[in-house]
Amino acid sequence: MIYLDNAATTWPKPEETIAAVANCMRRAGANPGRGGHKMSLEAGRIIFETREALAKMFGVSDPARIVFTGNATESLNIALKGFLKPGDHVITSSMEHNAVARPLQVLKAKGIQITEVSCSPQGELDPRDVDRAVKTNTAAVIIMHASNVTGTIMPIGEIGKITRQKGLCFIVDAAQTAGLLDIDVDKMNIDLLAFTGHKGLYGPQGTGGLFIRDETGLEPLKQGGTGSSSESPEQPEEMPDKFESGTPNTPGIAGLKAGIKFISGQGIDSIRKHENELLSKFLAGLKQIKKIEIYGTANPLLQVPVVSLNVKGQDSAEIAFIMDKVFDIACRSGLHCSPSAHRTIGTLGRGTVRFSFSLFNTAEEVDLTLEALERTITELP
Ligand code: ALA
Repeated sequence: MIYLDNAATTWPKPEETIAAVANCMRRAGANPGRGGHKMSLEAGRIIFETREALAKMFGVSDPARIVFTGNATESLNIALKGFLKPGDHVITSSMEHNAVARPLQVLKAKGIQITEVSCSPQGELDPRDVDRAVKTNTAAVIIMHASNVTGTIMPIGEIGKITRQKGLCFIVDAAQTAGLLDIDVDKMNIDLLAFTGHKGLYGPQGTGGLFIRDETGLEPLKQGGTGSSSESPEQPEEMPDKFESGTPNTPGIAGLKAGIKFISGQGIDSIRKHENELLSKFLAGLKQIKKIEIYGTANPLLQVPVVSLNVKGQDSAEIAFIMDKVFDIACRSGLHCSPSAHRTIGTLGRGTVRFSFSLFNTAEEVDLTLEALERTITELP
């Protein structure tokens, strides 16, 4: 199979990730932080080291400011619902995923005002529009680092300057970029950074996290056992316990640690260079095929390796079906859980066919995919 659905989850995972999950279950399968015996301490050590590795990756000086969650969606729910209060105003973009759009709908019903800044039909966001949308009651700005539909990279650095200058909380959804683009929470003035473990960090599904700057005053969405201050009826205030109630996904976190080690060994720059080469080759090839409509900037320097396209006159689901059944190529069609992004780029009705690359894809796979698309178009009625 040629797997080009890496924006949904990277596959394959490094052997190191798989081995780390199995090893953890075999040798460190106890409950971390909930016992003083050797195996519980070993499980706690895995979690501690993973937190440290993530902190290093995102330029976080205190690893305890990173809390583990099940995925970026959970992190975004904590960030939005734990920060915004009735009467607050929040600014977002028209390219956001349902992981942002749906929690915001719930908050709207609770008296939070929302401004959705329109992006261009290529999915680009002008930071000046964010600046212009700020009101006296604006409390936060939430923006994705890159679109999961068009791959368009958002001007996070510039928006961070605006939010810092105006004293707003800056929330970034890094689902598509953690492990792929450089992220430094201090340099970019990010206050809350939501990330997933199973995409660019090459960890297992069911892992993710949230960086929480200490000035945000964020409240957790759940309370419960943390393995600490058990005598207290109140949730502990210490980080990361405040946000980590319940037994964590230690095997998943062990796999995430291995994934981070793997990409650090490869070097984020060299991963990006490889994926950019594939992206450039794919875009150049697509431009030679008649009847293909490419969405987004179609400029490899302005996007992550995610390409949305359509074949003129054809349904996106039909093309993805042919890719899978005839050519054994996995891609994703439809709305990619991002109806607002599709409204922005003009594809809300039919969706797009999306191809997304990882470190494990090859130039030969790009050629075979281009050939498959060409043959599909020639042979379609
Ligand atoms: N949000 C993921 C995607 O874009 C699942 O496919």
